[in-house]
Formats: sequence, structure tokens, C-alpha cells
Amino acid sequence: MKRDIEEILFDEDTIKGKIKELAAKIQEDYKDKDLLMVGVLNGAVIFYVNLMMEMDIIMEMNFIRVSSYGAGTKSSGNVRVLYDLETNIVGKDVLIVEDIIDSGNTLYALREIFLSRGARTVKSCCLLDKVERREANIMPDYVGFIVPDKFLVGYGLDFAGKYRNLKYVGVLKPEIYSV
Ligand code: IMP
Ligand code: MG
Repeated sequence: MKRDIEEILFDEDTIKGKIKELAAKIQEDYKDKDLLMVGVLNGAVIFYVNLMMEMDIIMEMNFIRVSSYGAGTKSSGNVRVLYDLETNIVGKDVLIVEDIIDSGNTLYALREIFLSRGARTVKSCCLLDKVERREANIMPDYVGFIVPDKFLVGYGLDFAGKYRNLKYVGVLKPEIYSV
């Protein structure tokens, strides 16, 4: 896989350190709440598990899948739920866990959905934030790293379903996706 990577942005130790910091903050903020962590499939899974395992508070685990980019590299702007939560969220303190926020359309739509279903609070935690590409009016509550507008893979992030198992976050060589 390495030969398809132009540059490594965050290596495994750097990511692990950041996850510990995020977990400590979240744990403090949610210690007296009814935390339901909602991971956005598939990209957030690796981040989600590592984050959760650093937290020593009571929480519940659930996942949702929304329409993705397919094999492209840009967001379409309309978000569809493809696989839904398996729990009632009325009164829960929902924390959406995402690998990366780009346009913000996914996160914005998810927050609206969860609030309309009666969640008590809805916040979000993203490992990566491509802040300069934001379209929707939303900022994640917990952010690992701000990243440049380049196509990234690894640590859960994919291109056309691949590269999720890289232990680091890297920039994919443009020739891989611009063919
Ligand atoms: P948004 O709705 O535009 O914020 O898109 C968020 C989703 O787009 C994330 O959950 C990722 O799955 C995907 N995404 C955005 N940027 C990248 C990237 O650089 N690499 C891989 N996936 C990305
Ligand atoms: Mg995703």
C-alpha cells in the first residue's frame, strides 16, 4: 500500500496520543450523562474502537451507515441513511464519531435526524477536519487534527473501499484516483 501514498500526515503514535487526549476530554464531559456513541460506518470504526477503549465511563455503542462517495472523492450533498441505529435514542446524549468532516453535510444531516428523534444532546467527534471545505453550518465539538484539502486514506479512511487498514493517515497519490 505504501507506494500509493504521497506523504504520511499522522503516524500511529501521533494518532494514539491524540485519541487519548480526546478520550480524556469526552470522558470528563460525559461522566454524568447517558452517553450513546454513534459511529458512522465504515470509516469511523477504527477511530471509534480506539477512542472507546480509552474511556472509563458507562456508554453504549451503536452504528449508522449513510450514503457515501462511492468511488469518487467529492461529497454529493444529499445524505441517505443506508443502515440505521438499533436503539431508541430518546433522552440520550448522542456523540457522533466520524473519521473526517469535509463539507459537513453528513454530520449536519445526522445531527438533525438524531435531534428530531428526541436525543437530549447531540455532539460530534471527528478525528480529522478539512475545515476549509466546509459547506454546512456545523463545527465538530471534538477534533483530532485539522487537515489540508487533499484526499486522505488510512486509519479507517478509504478510497473506493481500500486503504482503511493503514496504521497512519496519509495523502493518496493523485494518480491513483485521477485515472
Ligand atoms: P462530508 O459530508 O462532506 O463532511 O463528508 C464526510 C465523509 O466523507 C467522511 O465520513 C468520509 O467518509 C468522506 N471523506 C471526506 N474526505 C475524505 C478523504 O480525504 N478521504 C476519505 N474519505 C473522505
Ligand atoms: Mg465516513
